[in-house]
Amino acid sequence: MKRKNNFFILCLVCGMAVATTVSAQVKLVLREDNIEEILNAMTIEEKVSLLVGGPGNLMPGAAGYTREIERLGIPMTVLADGPAGLRIQPKREGTEETFYCTGFPTSTLLASSWDPELVETVTTAMGNEVLEYGVDVLLAPGMNLHRNPLCGRNFEYYSEDPLLSGKMAAAYVRGIQKNGVGTSIKHFAANNQEINRLENDARVSNRALSELYLKNFEIAVKEGKPWTVMSSYNKLNGEYTQQKHGLLTTVLRGEWGFNGIVMTDWGVKDNTVKAVKAGNDLMEWGKQVEIDRILAAVNSGEISQEELDRNVRNMLNYIVKTPHFRHYNYSNKPDLKAHAEVARKAAEESIILLKNEGTLPLNGNEKVALYGISSVDFVGIGTGSGWVNTEHIANMQEAMTEVGFILDENLAEYYRLCYATQNTTEKMNGNSIDKRHRPESSVTAQAIERQAATNDVAVFVLGRVAGEGADRVVPDDFELSAIEREMLQNISMSYHKLGKKVVVVLNIVGVIETASWKHLVDAIVLSWAPGQEGAYAVSNVLCGKVNPSGKLPMTFPINYMDSPSSKNFPYTWDMTKGRRGERKNVDFTDYAEDIWVGYRYFQTNDVEVSYPFGYGLSYTTFAYSKPTLKANVDGFTATITVKNTGKVAGREVVELYVSAPSGNLEKPTRELKAFAKTKLLAPGESETLTMKVSAYELASFNEATSSWETAAGTYQVLFGASVEDIRATASFRLGKAQAWKVQDVLGMSEE
Ligand code: BGC
Repeated sequence: MKRKNNFFILCLVCGMAVATTVSAQVKLVLREDNIEEILNAMTIEEKVSLLVGGPGNLMPGAAGYTREIERLGIPMTVLADGPAGLRIQPKREGTEETFYCTGFPTSTLLASSWDPELVETVTTAMGNEVLEYGVDVLLAPGMNLHRNPLCGRNFEYYSEDPLLSGKMAAAYVRGIQKNGVGTSIKHFAANNQEINRLENDARVSNRALSELYLKNFEIAVKEGKPWTVMSSYNKLNGEYTQQKHGLLTTVLRGEWGFNGIVMTDWGVKDNTVKAVKAGNDLMEWGKQVEIDRILAAVNSGEISQEELDRNVRNMLNYIVKTPHFRHYNYSNKPDLKAHAEVARKAAEESIILLKNEGTLPLNGNEKVALYGISSVDFVGIGTGSGWVNTEHIANMQEAMTEVGFILDENLAEYYRLCYATQNTTEKMNGNSIDKRHRPESSVTAQAIERQAATNDVAVFVLGRVAGEGADRVVPDDFELSAIEREMLQNISMSYHKLGKKVVVVLNIVGVIETASWKHLVDAIVLSWAPGQEGAYAVSNVLCGKVNPSGKLPMTFPINYMDSPSSKNFPYTWDMTKGRRGERKNVDFTDYAEDIWVGYRYFQTNDVEVSYPFGYGLSYTTFAYSKPTLKANVDGFTATITVKNTGKVAGREVVELYVSAPSGNLEKPTRELKAFAKTKLLAPGESETLTMKVSAYELASFNEATSSWETAAGTYQVLFGASVEDIRATASFRLGKAQAWKVQDVLGMSEE
C-alpha cells in the first residue's frame, strides 16, 4: 500500500512536470528577455502581421493600432495623435463618462518659450494623459521646419531653426516618455508643405538636408531617444521617405544610433516591399494589401529572412515597452484640472510681446472695447490631426472679464451674436474637426467713434486658423483682410484722437504680414494658438500679472515674397499684379533657396524684416555682462551674466550665435548654436548662464567631401537678445580644421 502510494505520488509529480513542460510550450508568451525565442516561434504570417497596422476599437478616436498575436501574448498597441495634447474621442456610446484631454499650447508657442525645461514639464503632464487614457504612443511631436510662412501645419512645428526645433522636440519626447509611453517624431523628412503632401517630391541638396531639415531630427533622436519615428508621406529626392534606405537605415539608425521603430504616415503607397527593406518597420494605418505584398515578397525571397526578422525584432522591442504589454490598469481619470494649470503657465512663459509703446501692462481694471471675432472664436489649437478634443477653450471675453477688465458689453454681445449666427463649416471629418475660422465681423466707423469715447482702451484680437491638408494663402490670411485693415485704421484714428491706446493680440497659427499696419497700434501681443487656457495667459500678460518672456522662433518678413522659399512654394504671389502667381512646385518642389532659410537668408543678405528671429520684448530691461569663453579642440563653453535692470521681475533668453570662418564653404553670417533662459529675476538680480557648443556642432556640411567640417580660424561668438540685437561678443581660434565623414546616401535616386 505504501509502495502504491509512493508510486502514485511519483506519477503525480511526473505528470505535473510533463504538464508543465507541455503548457510552457503552449504558453510561450512574450517577455522582455525572450524576444529571440518569440521570433523563432513566430510563423511567417505572424511576423508579417506585426509589420502592418490594423483595425481596432480599443480606443475610440485613436489614429491606429498594431496587431495582436494572442497565441504569443503579443498585445495590440494604441497610437493616437498630438502634438498639442492627446486626441481621442471625448464621448463614447453607452456611458456618460467623458474622455476630454487638455489642449496645451501649440508647438510654435512652446518654441517661443525657448525653454526646454518648460516643454518637458508640459509634456510630462501630457504624457500622463496618454498613459491614463490607455494609449501607448503619442504621434508627436511634429517637427518639420518652418520653411515657408504659409505651410498649413506650421503651428504643429517649432521653428525655422533646426537647433531650436531639435532641442524643443528632444525635451517634448523626454517629458512624454517619462510616463512609460512612447512618442513618434514626425514627419521624417522634408514635409514642408501641405499641397500635394502625399506625392510631392522635395528636392533638397545634401547640405540643406544635413544642416537644416534633418539636423533637428538628429538632435531629437540623440537627445530625446524617441521610441518611434514617423516617415513622411512625401518623396525626398525621388523616393518616398518611407522607402529611402539611406534615410531610414544608413542615417537614422547607422549614423544617429536610433533603435526604435519607424512607422509610415497614414496611407498605403505602392512598393510596400521597398519600405520594408528600407527599414520602415510598421505600415500605418495598415491594410490587407500590404500584408499580401510583404508575404509574397518573403515567400519569393525578395525580402530576406534577416530583413523580415530585423523589422519584427524592432517591433517586439517596441511592444515590450508599452503599457498594454505591462497590462497597465489605466484610470481614464488624469488630473485635467492640474494640467489646465500647466497649460496656462506654459502659455504665460511663451507669449511674445512684439511692440509696446508706453501701453502695456494695463492696470487690469480698465474699460475695454474688445474687438475681433477671435475674441469669441478664440483659436486655441489648429485643425486636422493636430486638433485636441478639449472640454472647453477659454476665449478672450471670459478671460479678460475674470482678470478684472470691464468689457464694453454691447460690443461683446455683438460678437457673441456674430459667433452664434455666422455660417461656418464645422464638421467631424473622421476624427478631426475641420473647423473653419469665422471671418471678421465689421464694426462701423461711427460705432468705433462712440466706443472710443466710452472706453479706456481698445484691444483687437486678430485670428487665423489652419491645419493639415491645406496651406494658407496670401490675401485675407497672410495679409489682413479689407475689413480688418479698415477697422484697424478706424480704431487707431478714433482712440488716438482721444489720447487712448490700441492693443492688438495676434491669435494666429502662422506668420502674418505686420509691416504695413503695426504703426497704427501701440502694442502687439503675439499669443499664437495658445491652447485651452491661452486666453487667460494673454489676459495676465495684458494686465501685467505676467511679464512676457517669449521670443520669435522664426522671422516675420515684410512681404511674403521676401522669404526665399516663397519662389518655390506652390502658392506664389505676384506682387506686381497683386494676385496669385504661377502655381508650381506641386509635383515636385525645388528647395532652390538651399540653406538660405529664415534668418540665415535675411541676416546674411541684409534684407530688412518686420520682426527678426529671436525677437521679443519684456516689461523690464536686462544688461548683459562681458562673456567668458573657454575653447579647445572639442568646442567651447561660454558664460554670461544677465542682470534685470528694470523695475519688475522678468526672464531673459540669451541667444548664442556663431559667425564661423568660411573655410571652403559659403556660410551664414551667424547661426544659432546655443541658447539659455534665466529664471525669474527680481529687479536688480543677476544670473550667470552657461552654454556649451561642441566642435561637431560648429561644423558645416561639405557636399563635395560628404563630411561635416569645421574650418580653422577665428570664430566670433555673439550673445544676442535677437539675431539682430547683439549685446556682447567674444571670439576664439580653432588652430586645426576637423572633419566628420558621413555616407552620401540622401541624394537623387536613379528611379
Ligand atoms: C498625419 C499625421 C498623423 C496621422 C494619424 C496623418 O494624416 O499627417 O501627422 O499622425 O495622420 O492621424
